[in-house]
Amino acid sequence: MPLLQPTIPPLPNTLSFAGKTAIVTGATSGLGFEAALQLAQRDIATLILAVRRVAAGESTKAQILADPLVGKRSSPPHIVVLELNLDRLSSVASFANRVHADFPELHILLLNAGLGGLAFITTPENGYEQMFHANYVANVLLATRLLPLLRATAQRTGAPSHLTLVGSRMSHYASFAKKPVPDSESVFAYMNDKAKFGMGRYGDTKLLAAMWIAEAAKRVPASEVVINNVCPGMVKTALNDKQPLWVRVPVNIVFAIRARTAAVGARTLLSAVTAGEETHGQLLGDMTVEKIVFRGSPQGKRLQEKLWKETSRATEEWTPGAAQEAGF
Ligand SMILES: NC(=O)c1ccc[n+]([C@@H]2O[C@H](COP(=O)([O-])OP(=O)(O)OC[C@H]3O[C@@H](n4cnc5c(N)ncnc54)[C@H](OP(=O)(O)O)[C@@H]3O)[C@@H](O)[C@H]2O)c1
Repeated sequence: MPLLQPTIPPLPNTLSFAGKTAIVTGATSGLGFEAALQLAQRDIATLILAVRRVAAGESTKAQILADPLVGKRSSPPHIVVLELNLDRLSSVASFANRVHADFPELHILLLNAGLGGLAFITTPENGYEQMFHANYVANVLLATRLLPLLRATAQRTGAPSHLTLVGSRMSHYASFAKKPVPDSESVFAYMNDKAKFGMGRYGDTKLLAAMWIAEAAKRVPASEVVINNVCPGMVKTALNDKQPLWVRVPVNIVFAIRARTAAVGARTLLSAVTAGEETHGQLLGDMTVEKIVFRGSPQGKRLQEKLWKETSRATEEWTPGAAQEAGF
């Protein structure tokens, strides 16, 4: 890991989201807040803030509307705050239903919300390990539910929509090469087994998400939806705030030396949601396509295939017909 990160260039002045509708998940802080703000500064027509805490979402909305650059627009963005809790599939379903009911178009789905951590915590509705659930399960179910709207929007406008998941280069360091999922065990069972939980969990969940992105991209043409995954580099946000002190202190020292601000990191997210077909199914490290070596190995290919099959079965159980409607 180089001591300093490369500079992220400013986005082109001409970049505009006029006339478009975007969803940003986890818009209350860090990268999600900055991405939402920058979309608003660049003329987005409708911005859906998908947030776990609605009161915090309303305060985010007020902050965006009070921004001087947003204030210079000829008309303010239409900002809607909707609850989305990635710990609960019932919340994912309600959110997706509401979007389908209230919004005729969706050009950008930015799946930013996510978490790290070292504690094994289970979700309240289905007892899944929380990081696996939020970073993978809930994200891919939401993406599947909203793909029909992204596709229909592209068919109407003649330009591709974008589905971008905020991943991480930590997926390069996932633990599956050293601790493979046994053939006899499902990936879901493995990820929900406390005995298998460890320091590599964050990277593991981001690798699974990258694998899903790659498989989804095989089934949806890039001419309709560009589906990609982006790592914004090391960015100073609240991501590590809930870590134990012995982790937070050294991480904060490293962050003080090399982390970007959230405003700079968010440029990589805006770049991903406007990227071309060459990024379809790929991980963007900052703004450049990066290969995840393990994904191309025989072991990685087997894991990706197994994950897709299991996720397809689970998707059918959660929402019958959703995978077929998405075009999978
Ligand atoms: N910061 C980095 O260096 C870095 C590097 C690579 C990738 N990333 C990724 O970037 C994304 C954004 O993280 P960040 O760094 O901006 O951290 P952050 O400041 O902690 O923001 C995370 C956002 O996700 C939301 N969230 C967390 N768990 C959720 C759940 N179960 N349901 C709904 N929303 C939830 C949080 O909502 P609350 O405000 O309600 O907690 C918050 O809005 C994450 O996916 C992270 O993995 C970050």
